[in-house]
Amino acid sequence: MDGQVIKLTRGTPPTSTFPTGKIAECASAVLAQHGDEVLQYGPSRGFLPLREELARETNTKADQVILGGGSLNLLDLFIRLVVKPRDWVFVEKPTYDRPLILLRRAGARVRGLPMEEDGLNTRYLTQRLEEGVRPVFLYVIPDFQNPSGTVLALEKRHRIIELARQYDFWIVEDLPYRKLRYRGDEVLSFLEMAPDRVLQMSSFSKLISPGLRVGHLIVPEPLAGPLAKIAEETTINASYLNQAIVYEFIERGWLEPQIEELKVTYQPLLDATLASLEDHMGDLATWHRPDGGFFVGTMLNAPVDAGVLQQKAHEAGLLLTDGRTFFPDGDGDRFVRLPFCALSEREIDEGIAGLAGVVRSLG
Ligand SMILES: Cc1ncc(COP(=O)(O)O)c(C=O)c1O
Repeated sequence: MDGQVIKLTRGTPPTSTFPTGKIAECASAVLAQHGDEVLQYGPSRGFLPLREELARETNTKADQVILGGGSLNLLDLFIRLVVKPRDWVFVEKPTYDRPLILLRRAGARVRGLPMEEDGLNTRYLTQRLEEGVRPVFLYVIPDFQNPSGTVLALEKRHRIIELARQYDFWIVEDLPYRKLRYRGDEVLSFLEMAPDRVLQMSSFSKLISPGLRVGHLIVPEPLAGPLAKIAEETTINASYLNQAIVYEFIERGWLEPQIEELKVTYQPLLDATLASLEDHMGDLATWHRPDGGFFVGTMLNAPVDAGVLQQKAHEAGLLLTDGRTFFPDGDGDRFVRLPFCALSEREIDEGIAGLAGVVRSLG
């Protein structure tokens, strides 16, 4: 491995994909046209033209669109608004690790819904609801889930909406990878199917640059005022300058080609990951075969302690995220998330071969 560490840890985009020159052009245009507005404090919902653009795209009203310093910041605000200590919140199992941290901080009780090839197990969800557990909301990443890579099947989305109406809980859908589909057809989003029940969060972090910290939350009308208020009390407003840069980027017609370029860059890396898994891990693990996104979720066949696995991998020049961080209840020892977008094909193959060696040495 040439003495270099291969990082199979955070799912960040490679810096080579950042459209730095174009962002500079947008920044200078925005400062020339809207300098006074974007350098001043503003209403907490954010830069109106971008909110109008997102409202058009999602068939909602600009008032329902709240911009934040990344989407995670808005999820935190929503949790502060609706979750009291000991309230139940349902998540997928595994799920993105940071919302688990936010929920724990709020004192929520978190129930993980086991994942299947086509997304969360809706029978399990139904049983928990029939037993009388009443979540305030379900947090779900329906498209190319972080960390498993799965897409939630349309029939399951319908069933979840039915249950949300029957048992009166919100659905929070988180879609940062939705537009990074390398093959196959898009599935209807929850927001498209049930705008009165759904909060949709997403961001430009994976499409333009995470450093801009421009995320959004689209909320049913009754929640918009209270969320805008808590946003104002917490951060006053997120960066109008960055929001206006994103708006300008879209206005100039640069977002679609940027996304197309990302797909051309990432698809071969996904294919390389799947091929390397076949070559090296066929007898050691099972994995999901995603059609998009940033991650391939892998489950090792044999029991292993995640801490030991991480340590041994480190000694072999490989950084792994502890699989347990994605599970609300401490499971996840055998789970390995493989982010592929920021690695070269060579690093992917060497990394997966190295991982196979470590797993064999523990077996
Ligand atoms: C599922 C999911 N949600 C939210 C985020 C954070 O997004 P943002 O940069 O908009 O805060 C990430 C980042 O990796 C993610 O994977």
